[in-house]
Amino acid sequence: MNPATRALEANRTDKLREMFREHFGTSARIFRAPGRVNLIGEHTDYNDGFVMPVAIDFATWVAGCANETNSIRAHSRQYNETVTLNLDSLEGPPTGHWSDFVRGVVYGLLQAEQKIVGADLLIDGQVPLGSGLSSSAALELATATALQAISHAQLPAIETVKICQNAEHTFVGARCGIMDQFISQFGQAGHALLLDCRSLEPIAVPIPHGVEIVICNTMVKHELASGEYNRRRADCEEGIRILQNFLPGVRALRDVSLADLEAHRTSFPERIYHRCRHVVTENARTQQFADALTRGDLLTVGRLMAESHESLRADYEVSCPELDAMVQSAAHCEGLIGARMTGGGFGGCTVNLVHADCTEAFAKRVAADYFRATTIEPCVYSTTAAQGAGEVNDDATQVRSRGAR
Ligand code: GLA
Repeated sequence: MNPATRALEANRTDKLREMFREHFGTSARIFRAPGRVNLIGEHTDYNDGFVMPVAIDFATWVAGCANETNSIRAHSRQYNETVTLNLDSLEGPPTGHWSDFVRGVVYGLLQAEQKIVGADLLIDGQVPLGSGLSSSAALELATATALQAISHAQLPAIETVKICQNAEHTFVGARCGIMDQFISQFGQAGHALLLDCRSLEPIAVPIPHGVEIVICNTMVKHELASGEYNRRRADCEEGIRILQNFLPGVRALRDVSLADLEAHRTSFPERIYHRCRHVVTENARTQQFADALTRGDLLTVGRLMAESHESLRADYEVSCPELDAMVQSAAHCEGLIGARMTGGGFGGCTVNLVHADCTEAFAKRVAADYFRATTIEPCVYSTTAAQGAGEVNDDATQVRSRGAR
């Protein structure tokens, strides 16, 4: 973290403590967990495949303190609303309310036999909501980190990640993979993580010197997002069932080569074939991308990002006109290394790798071109690769990070 950013974050820490005191009348400890951007490896995590996310500078912050009751009182700054969750009656279906994330995490921690105590939480989410930068994983991890610290509980970090993922399945109704929660917990400053979603073993790959990560927010979120996401998962599962008739050893699309898929193409409904082809080729691209980034072969990096976007657009059908327009706008800008949609799709953001000395001009030009194409004013953010979840000191340094496993 550079000194200017640290000063800003220290200011944020002071403000949060002050707000907490105003709201709950006591002092608090401060925790944060970052959002993420995925460089490549999209819709592969729930197929036991490879992903390559980066934790970003935007985080969800939680100020918290034990409250000697049997309840969690959580106040969201963004929604300006307080909810009270009784530790003995957390079960229930998704309600669509922001507190479902908190409820799911607390429930998961209790199920894992952690002695979570009643606590007051002030939640300040900085990750743009609904923009595909994992504001939900950031909220889950920040909550889980705070509650464990306050309760003197400490699960292995990977268990915390799984509890947060499960909270989303059970309390929110989104059958997400493990990528977002994993990187929010284990993110490493200056690095992307090449994560094998089967073994859950990450390899840290440094972001090369002189390469900047620029996120372009299309500012649209199409309604279909969560329903279509679950449908894509179901399509992949159907693909596996078909392949298992010929290849009984196959457990997930991770185990399938393009040659296997082509050999049995006639057994697939057209849509399922295309879904599987995206996953199989994306897994290969992700591993090639990690190699190319390590070697500093930025031409290959850019080509693989372009191919990933095209595969998500044409085979997986999770892009949308605005994401395509943003990628096309970036293609005309000086300094671009590579651009593609990032996250689940149907809106949200693109991720761009840009030569650092061109970042400012790039941001202006891409925003202007996108506006010309869509009449929508985008947001463009430049981010470093940040550290995963942890407690924060007064000077905004992290007390303890469980980034290294
Ligand atoms: C969402 C999910 C992730 C992952 C991506 C697509 O962000 O939460 O688990 O599946 O979509 O790569």
